[in-house]
Amino acid sequence: MTQRNLSLSKDKIRILLLENISERAVECFNAAGYHQVECLPGALPVDELVERIADVHFLGIRSRTRVTERVLDAADRLTAIGCFCIGTDQVDLAAARHRGIPVFNAPYANTRSVAELVLAEIVMLMRGIPAKNAAAHRGEWLKSARASFEVRGKTLGIIGYGHIGSQLGILAEGLGMRVMYYDVVRKLPLGNAEPADSQDEVLERADVVSLHVPDTAETRGLIDAGELARMKPGAHLINASRGKVVSIPALAQALEQGRLGGAAIDVFPSEPTSKDEEFVSELREFDNVLLTPHIGGSTHEAQQNIALDVSTKMTLYSDNGSSTGAVNFPEVNLPDHATARRILHIHRNEPGVLQAINHAFSEAGINIVGQYLQTLTDVGYVVMDVETDDAGPVLRRLHDIPATIRTRFLY
Ligand code: NAI
Repeated sequence: MTQRNLSLSKDKIRILLLENISERAVECFNAAGYHQVECLPGALPVDELVERIADVHFLGIRSRTRVTERVLDAADRLTAIGCFCIGTDQVDLAAARHRGIPVFNAPYANTRSVAELVLAEIVMLMRGIPAKNAAAHRGEWLKSARASFEVRGKTLGIIGYGHIGSQLGILAEGLGMRVMYYDVVRKLPLGNAEPADSQDEVLERADVVSLHVPDTAETRGLIDAGELARMKPGAHLINASRGKVVSIPALAQALEQGRLGGAAIDVFPSEPTSKDEEFVSELREFDNVLLTPHIGGSTHEAQQNIALDVSTKMTLYSDNGSSTGAVNFPEVNLPDHATARRILHIHRNEPGVLQAINHAFSEAGINIVGQYLQTLTDVGYVVMDVETDDAGPVLRRLHDIPATIRTRFLY
């Protein structure tokens, strides 16, 4: 296990940003006083990353860079990783935690983008546009008002009333829709939305059902044949959440039988990994289904928000020690430390460590004016605000505690 002390001035801190991360991130780092920022357009293969990572303090990646245990072993100075995207599967999160490296991401920076797309899809579906559009591309002229409705006064049923679901509800009310929702957690309604007692109630009453749940064991197959059968005849289904939430064979059957008016699907159980791979789905044959390639959150604005969100979390961790928003690491939300020095200690979460830490301070004769602790499974993160300008003796003692993973000293 690596053990080291870090107390660097900002001009020595090196930041490497891969995969064409938005310029907004660089601006944010610069504004916080970090000027050693190197940006590369693409992902680096593991071998090259292993070579380049040795003197990097903060690494920014998107989804194509793999941060494996081998990369982390070579990352002697790495203090934090920022995933400038939503997912963090590309990083070995446990291995990073064991080395005292928090990983940050931006889970909600594209909320608005998804909500806007879904809003547009509601209008398109209610007017039967997907089928009319497909027909027009083939030279057919389906000029008819049959099964074509305004959205005003219709009921939107939202399943999963979190960041996206609740924002969608507000936007849909702006178009005059009635909004009802079901969430497994009791959520206060925004605007005039009406909470439902069950998912079934939403399925049975809504003209359009939109899914905004996470991917969990409970939500896989959440919408199957039984749920689709509960929906009103001619109702529409939208899924821009996760691919496994809807049973695609069951949806295809409901469409085949003409029980649903249409659907808009952005996420699939299996998705091509690049544009060179064919998109295969039973839904391709249905003109009344709007198919989009998992782009619900893919907008220029979302990229900018992601850049701002992740770089802010990284600079806060660097400047103040707050690990708020880390996905693999104990979350400590710290106040300013203008009047005290701050020592950050990351350790294996073993019995007796805190006692050893407190002993190190008392032996060094240093007074602790504030102490914050959080643990996550096998790792603990304790932050001490102290009244001393000479932290050397206590840092040496902390370093000698066998469970120490790393320490940092902030002026
Ligand atoms: P969130 O975590 O803010 O909200 C999810 C809500 O679902 C929570 O309120 C939770 O209590 C609720 N929930 C969980 N299980 C449920 C169940 N069985 N029934 C009803 N409600 C349940 O998440 P957020 O940010 O709103 O995202 C929602 C989904 O959208 C996620 O799956 C996310 O991965 C996906 N997403 C898709 C994007 C795309 O490009 N298509 C972009 C961004 C997010």
